[in-house]
Amino acid sequence: MTDFTARYLSDYQVSNFSIATVDLTFELADTATIVTSTMAIKRENKNAKQLVLDGEQLKLVSLQINQQDLPESYYQVSDTQLALDISADEFILTIVTEIDPLNNTSLEGLFKSGGAFCTQCEAEGFRRITYYLDRPDVMSTFSTKVIADKKSYPYLLSNGNKTAAGDLPQGKHFTCWQDPHPKPCYLFAVVAGDFDLLEGSFTTQDKRNVALEIFVDKGNLPKAHHAMASLKKSMLWDEETFGLVYDLDIYMIVAVDFFNMGAMENKGLNVFNSKFVLADNESATDTDFFNIEAVIGHEYFHNWTGNRVTCRDWFQLSLKEGLTVFRDQQFSADMHSAPVNRIKNVRLLRSKQFAEDAGPMAHPIRPEKVLEMNNFYTLTVYEKGAEVIRMINTLLGAAKFRKGMDLYFARFDGMAVTCDDFINAMSDASGVDLVLFKAWYHQSGTPILSVEEGFSNEQYQLTLTQTNPSQKDGSEGKALHIPVAIELIENNKVIRRQLLELTSEQQTWTFDNFVEKPVLAVLADFSAPVKLSINQTDQELATVMAFADDEFCRWDAGQQLMLNYIKALIDDSSFALPNSLLTTYQAIFDANTDNAFKAEQLSLPSFDEVVAEIAQVDPIKVVNAIAAVKLFLVTGLTASFEKTFIDNKASAYKYSGEEVGQRALKNVCLSYLSLLEQQQSKVVEQYQSSDNMTDTLAALACSADNNLVDLAGQLQHFEQKWHSTALVMDKWFSLAAQQCSTNIFSSLDRLLAHPLFSLKNPNRARSLVGNFSVNNPRYFHCQSGQGYQFLAEQIALLNEINPQVASRLITPLIQFRSFDLPRQKLMRAELEKLTTLKNLSKDLKEKLDAALA
Ligand code: PHE
Ligand code: ZN
Repeated sequence: MTDFTARYLSDYQVSNFSIATVDLTFELADTATIVTSTMAIKRENKNAKQLVLDGEQLKLVSLQINQQDLPESYYQVSDTQLALDISADEFILTIVTEIDPLNNTSLEGLFKSGGAFCTQCEAEGFRRITYYLDRPDVMSTFSTKVIADKKSYPYLLSNGNKTAAGDLPQGKHFTCWQDPHPKPCYLFAVVAGDFDLLEGSFTTQDKRNVALEIFVDKGNLPKAHHAMASLKKSMLWDEETFGLVYDLDIYMIVAVDFFNMGAMENKGLNVFNSKFVLADNESATDTDFFNIEAVIGHEYFHNWTGNRVTCRDWFQLSLKEGLTVFRDQQFSADMHSAPVNRIKNVRLLRSKQFAEDAGPMAHPIRPEKVLEMNNFYTLTVYEKGAEVIRMINTLLGAAKFRKGMDLYFARFDGMAVTCDDFINAMSDASGVDLVLFKAWYHQSGTPILSVEEGFSNEQYQLTLTQTNPSQKDGSEGKALHIPVAIELIENNKVIRRQLLELTSEQQTWTFDNFVEKPVLAVLADFSAPVKLSINQTDQELATVMAFADDEFCRWDAGQQLMLNYIKALIDDSSFALPNSLLTTYQAIFDANTDNAFKAEQLSLPSFDEVVAEIAQVDPIKVVNAIAAVKLFLVTGLTASFEKTFIDNKASAYKYSGEEVGQRALKNVCLSYLSLLEQQQSKVVEQYQSSDNMTDTLAALACSADNNLVDLAGQLQHFEQKWHSTALVMDKWFSLAAQQCSTNIFSSLDRLLAHPLFSLKNPNRARSLVGNFSVNNPRYFHCQSGQGYQFLAEQIALLNEINPQVASRLITPLIQFRSFDLPRQKLMRAELEKLTTLKNLSKDLKEKLDAALA
């Protein structure tokens, strides 16, 4: 029987015991791996009688204290714990366990990915390897010996430095590793397999040589170069930006096909979803190249923000994740266009995080109650967490922020600390008062920032009001410390720029010496993660689009304008869009801005972004309204879309800023043009002539979204060409699931039965099931409820196979309150069915309870 007891932040207690050193030996075998753990343990709390170790799915083979077998009366084993009665205050504990990696489809603990052994320990997977104090504030020095068959597993890897290696009888061999940095067990890793190895090196600013090693499946070596280049850039950037230097002689990355998440920052031995390592010009998109660099950066930056300074407990997850996402965002901004990156971050936040924060699983960036920790690797902890760090950066300024980071490391290097410790370091180093600011850590929900303007006697008045949603415990939302960056535009010129700090429910600022009421550009660079409520005329929005200095504001004004009309069409589908919209849009084409930015300006708010703005909306009305605006624009401005499409056809593929921007702009235009029958030959032509995955997929997406006649042939051709490249076939499954066709449900059944489909591979499951429910809103939300039923059925299967993946894929169903009542009823019915599953996992249980409460 699964234990459904929740844990609370307020219950935190320091560990009764410490573990100074742990020595692990792995005798790897598919269904019966033997793990021997030898720990030096010390009682820290004299009143503590029992030593209670965590352990799940383990077979206990033997148990020794100071090399003496422990009689059975001195310990008790349960499904989740090993409790020991030991009187000594310091002792050596040796535990032998047996585990079954081959049948571990949860991909937590030790599992097999293809032919390789691999571990995943964050958050609480180490307890599936051996009995241990599986909590991040228990830090130990690890040494590891890995033993396996030499022919099948020539590479045996673990954290730290290699100390010994050699052959053993029966065709086996071993390798020993020693990690000099004490760490919590969630950062432990072992990998064994047969790989191709890409070697590189990096010289640190203190002139030490670091060996860089990237392990990929045989045959994939040519696809690892971009990852290697990204790693070197990350290492240099962290030295130059934060003065942070790498601290071991070797840095290894292993790419695996079976992985629940993006990647994992295990000390010195990162394990990556192969999707964030492998790329070449033919098989990867521009977005893939970009994401690889970002994720490599993210994991590398964890070496300091996460590993050297780690979390005291899992409620503090945002201490490392929010901060590290902020760091990877800054890195990407420095490597590419800062405004375009900012726009992408904001789109993600508005489309997905706002929905999470308005849904049943809403939680503060530092949660207070957790049933299954894996459920808290969320957009809120990561993306909103990064916004909170960004606000500190904005309030302090870059120089003081850096001083705060320096103090944070000076104080806490080698320790497991809290979010409060971080804020206090920031405040102490800068002299900036962050007491009120801390509320961002314990309040959930997206604040609404309302803007009122007044003008009289040459005085401009700006009143900002914040409304914070009530909290889960019923308490009211309190006022937060919100940095609001503004620009005031007069005569088409920014004449004032200021950072306002809203620290109470409502504040008014006055600005003197204006002849006319200025035009306001608000939330420059999206200075706070809030929803904006403001009434600006089309004329004002057009002024901001054209004349604000801040690029984010220029882009956002266009989005606001479009959103207003999408809303009008949702209210009344016969609403006539004004021709002035065409003039405003034409100005985007005519402006002298870079192509990537233009592409973002031409892209309408997404389905999710619109849903986040309207209570209990009919999803089909949203789909139709967005399509109507798009059709209106392309019908009125066909020539501009066509010219821009043709002008930006690049020659042979290259991944460079300039060309990425060109392709993005060209493909946005194609997506508009594909709505017009007489233009659809362009889609076919691009599919046939493309030499790169970005253009191929853009054409395919047009075919799928409009259900063009050529889609079937294109999908077939694509499948034939790419059937043996897993990452590309993921894209194929995604596109097929996105087909906007009344036949979609029979297609989905065929896709599920496809020989290359398997729910056991998370990337595959996400590409088919996830993409259908997120990117095919017309059919996911179809009135019959078939879309919801399809998702629920797959979740039921995944509950047994991989609870983490099941729990992520259920997101669109638990957010049912965003939609109209008929949909709510249908979605609820599916959720209720799921509650009756036998062997319901903690992961799903927590979400179902929250959703149906
Ligand atoms: N810590 C990883 C990251 O953010 C994410 C992760 C969490 C991976 C849990 C696996 C399991 O980089
Ligand atoms: Zn991370």
